[in-house]
Amino acid sequence: MKANIMLLPGDGIGPEILTAAVQVLDKVASKYGHEFAYNEQLIGGIAIDKTGNPLPEETLRAGEQSDAILLASVGGPKWSDPSAPVRPEQGLLKIRGHFGLFANLRPVKTYPALAQHVPLRPDLLEGVDMLIVRELTGGLYFGERKEQGDGADSYDTMYYSVPEVERVAHVAFKAAQKRRGKLTSVDKANVLASMRLWRRTVVKVAEDYADVELDHVLVDACAMYLMTRPASFDVIVAENMFGDILSDEASVLAGSLGMLPSASLGSGTFGLYEPVHGSAPDIAGKGIANPIGQFLSAAMMLRHSLNLETEASAVEAAVDAVLDDGARTADIAVKGGATVGTAEFTQAVIAKL
Ligand code: IPM
Ligand code: MG
Repeated sequence: MKANIMLLPGDGIGPEILTAAVQVLDKVASKYGHEFAYNEQLIGGIAIDKTGNPLPEETLRAGEQSDAILLASVGGPKWSDPSAPVRPEQGLLKIRGHFGLFANLRPVKTYPALAQHVPLRPDLLEGVDMLIVRELTGGLYFGERKEQGDGADSYDTMYYSVPEVERVAHVAFKAAQKRRGKLTSVDKANVLASMRLWRRTVVKVAEDYADVELDHVLVDACAMYLMTRPASFDVIVAENMFGDILSDEASVLAGSLGMLPSASLGSGTFGLYEPVHGSAPDIAGKGIANPIGQFLSAAMMLRHSLNLETEASAVEAAVDAVLDDGARTADIAVKGGATVGTAEFTQAVIAKL
C-alpha cells in the first residue's frame, strides 16, 4: 500500500527517536512491499523559534493531506518560562483539537525482563496489561480559562457535554470487548458536577455493551489501586487531566516511561501517534534515548491508521525479541549490564524484522 505520513520531530530527543522510527518503518515498507511517503513539519519549541507559532498553519495543512501523523516530543527549558505567552505544549493541545482526536489510547504492560526497574513487589506485576483511554479534547485542559499577569486571579474549567463523554466511552467499551471485557471508568463524581455527568453518561452507554463488566472508581482511589492491584485493570477510561496523570503513574509498571506508546484517534482511521514521554532535554543529542515508545507508537499507527496488523505485530515482536536478547538503553539498564545507544537498539530491531 501507499501511505502519506507526516513527521513531527519536535524538540529534545524527538529528532533522534523519530529518525530511528523512520528507519524501522522503511524496513517494514521494503519487507512487506509498501510505500511510505514522509512529510516533515514543525511543532513545539523549534516551531516557535522558526515561525513564532508552536503549530504553524503549514503543519496543519500538511497534516490534512496525510493518512497519519507520527510525532516525537515537544518542549524544553528554553521555552518553559511559565509566564511566556507562547509555549511548545500549546502546539500539542491545538493539533489534537484541530484533528478532533478525542480518544487517546495508552497501553501499559509489564515486561518481566525489566522487573528490577519497577519499585513494586514482583508478585503484584504478574499479568499487568491495561489500556488507558484518556479523553483528549475536552475536560480541564480544554475548558474556559482565565489568565492574567501578576496579582490577578486565574481559573481553568472542567467542562463536558454528554456527546463528548459518549464518544470516548464508546471507544473504551469497544476496546474492552476486544480485550478481557472489563472497563473501569474514572471520575471524581463525589465532588465535581462535570464528573457526575461523566458517570451518568458512561452508565447510559453501558446499556449497549452488556458483555462488558463496568465499574466506577474515584480518581484518587484509582491512583492507589494502580500501585496496590495493577493486574486487576483491563481498560480504564478517564477525563483528560486524570488520564494524563494516571498514565504517567502507570508507566512505572512498564519499567520506564520510555516504553509507552500512544495513539490519538478521532472518528475515522486518521490518527496521531506519539510516545507518552516528553522531550528529555537532559539527554538530548547524546544518542542514548530509548526509542521503544516511538517504535511502539509507529506500530500503533500501522495498525489503526494503515490497517497493517501483521506489520504492527511484527514491530512489537521485534522490540520484545531485542529486549529478550538483553539489549538495554540507559534508562532500562541494570547496574553493570551492557547498554546500547539509540542507533544500536534500532539496528537490532531492524535485524529482527
Ligand atoms: C502528554 C503530555 C502533554 C499533555 C503535555 C506536554 C501538554 O503530558 O501527552 O501526556 O498533558 O497532554
Ligand atoms: Mg502527560
